Amino acid sequence: MNRLYFGDNLKWLSDRKEFPDASVDLVYLDPPFNSNADYNVLFREPSGAVSQAQFHAFTDTWSWADAAETYHQFIDNCPNVAVVELMEAFHSFLKHSPMMAYLAMMAPRLVELHRVIKPTGSLYLHCDPTASHYLRMLLDGIFGVRNFRTEIIWKRSSAHSDAAQGRQQHGRIHDTLFFYTKSDEWKWNHVFTEYDESYIDSFYKFIEPGTGRRYRLVTSLHPAVPRPKRRIRITNSWVLSAIGVTARSECKSCMNKAELCRASRELFQRISV
Ligand SMILES: C[S@@+](CC[C@H](N)C(=O)[O-])C[C@H]1O[C@@H](n2cnc3c(N)ncnc32)[C@H](O)[C@@H]1O
Repeated sequence: MNRLYFGDNLKWLSDRKEFPDASVDLVYLDPPFNSNADYNVLFREPSGAVSQAQFHAFTDTWSWADAAETYHQFIDNCPNVAVVELMEAFHSFLKHSPMMAYLAMMAPRLVELHRVIKPTGSLYLHCDPTASHYLRMLLDGIFGVRNFRTEIIWKRSSAHSDAAQGRQQHGRIHDTLFFYTKSDEWKWNHVFTEYDESYIDSFYKFIEPGTGRRYRLVTSLHPAVPRPKRRIRITNSWVLSAIGVTARSECKSCMNKAELCRASRELFQRISV
């Protein structure tokens, strides 16, 4: 089924006719990250140059004034007592901060997502270090600590770090994906990926004339050296080619939509195998 739902996702997710309990195999969400930025969609000219045309896409700034009602409704109605206690603990630590407002927005949506996922289903939450530590605790509360499976580090390959000149901290160049399952038995297909070119270049230096296949020379004293494998099982450290550098790290208020869509597509291909 291919269907696009337009509007607030909490409204849609809470509609139990549209989204019955245990009806979804896989959830990938790329929500706002609490980046305290506005995002515009930029267009490109046919030449590839960035056009002047743009429109405001969304605001990733959170205030308690807007979130207080959602928070109290959640505390009063959420059936998961552990999650309510966790949110109250966050609240007593974070007070009425933007981070607390952000978590108040995320919590009811994550609870609904958990409800709709099948017992064999799973969820990937995409975020960055701004809020990943709180989101992981929230997901532990909602899915259960036992159902945390992997933290995937998605490194931007084409991006600069955000280390501005003179800034006295490490440049940040990764996003995070948390992989949770609904239960102990989940659907899983192995995903394979190519070796890094740099690995191939340094370990398999020679190229067979005619076929173009890579090989390396090994001593005959150790004939059992494995044949070169071009594909390996995927790990939790990903380098994807196209994460939108302008979207999240460098430039407040600009998002290169084409790059971001390409990145999302590449990522989704990996998790939906
Ligand atoms: C980090 S961006 C995701 C971008 C998207 N993955 C892409 O490749 O274009 C977060 C998105 O969540 C959307 N959003 C924020 N609050 C929402 C809500 N309550 N319901 C539905 N979408 C929402 C924003 O409009 C924004 O497009």
